Amino acid sequence: MSTTTASGRRGRYTPTAMWFHWITALLMASILPIAWVMTNMGDNNPWEGLLYTLHKSIGLTIIAVVVLRLVWRATHPAPPLAGRAGAAVALLARTNHWLLYAVLLVMPVSGYLLSATGRFPTSYFGLFTVPGLGPHPALHRTATSVHLLGQWFVYALVVLHLLGTSYHVVIARDGTLERMLPKQV
Ligand code: HEM
Ligand code: HEM
Repeated sequence: MSTTTASGRRGRYTPTAMWFHWITALLMASILPIAWVMTNMGDNNPWEGLLYTLHKSIGLTIIAVVVLRLVWRATHPAPPLAGRAGAAVALLARTNHWLLYAVLLVMPVSGYLLSATGRFPTSYFGLFTVPGLGPHPALHRTATSVHLLGQWFVYALVVLHLLGTSYHVVIARDGTLERMLPKQV
């Protein structure tokens, strides 16, 4: 999987890992703006129900993708880090990646729990109703707090991730982004 290219750069992620990565990024890029709009629109807005359904359905899709991705990742290690990153930078990148995986699990699980113990049923893209757990005010409050607080970890980690990637692309120019992109001809 991890071969050295003609330019002397290290190997790439597998195509499956790339699909998992970019599908997750796309889902995250849609779920967050939907969350901001749905929680800021007036009650009784006719779009509110649709946006909540989309938010919850995309979130449940994310957890399915991330669980599959982690199973894949467990059997397919990442290629060695590109460039001449020092040990501290490499540790920062790796920590950032694992914390991203952590929030990608905590956010949908807390979202599911807050919804499943709340008042409104969750429809998966209008296809079927996701089983709930019945009223459970304490669990509902805890899951809501985790979900609302967790968003700040998402923002911080994604910003750090994008800053790191930008550093590799603009300053280090060490082929890090290419590791997550198909081979260019
Ligand atoms: C990676 C997955 C997820 C992310 C990143 C995410 C993110 C967010 C964000 C940023 C908010 C807005 C918080 C605010 O400022 O008010 C929110 C609210 C909400 N999310 Fe999620 N969410 C995810 C998954 C889910 C799932 C799977 C469900 C349910 C099945 C869900 C249900 C909700 C609900 C009901 C709210 C409104 C909470 C309230 O205002 O009390 N979320 N989510
Ligand atoms: C335009 C947006 C994004 C870009 C340009 C980008 C770029 C990259 C690159 C280049 C890598 C490989 C790093 C390396 O070789 O060490 C990577 C890995 C990773 N990215 Fe992103 N990313 C983006 C969005 C996201 C988002 C939104 C998430 C999740 C919320 C995410 C989660 C991850 C994770 C978990 C890894 C580690 C993969 C592994 O080793 O298992 N990325 N990203």
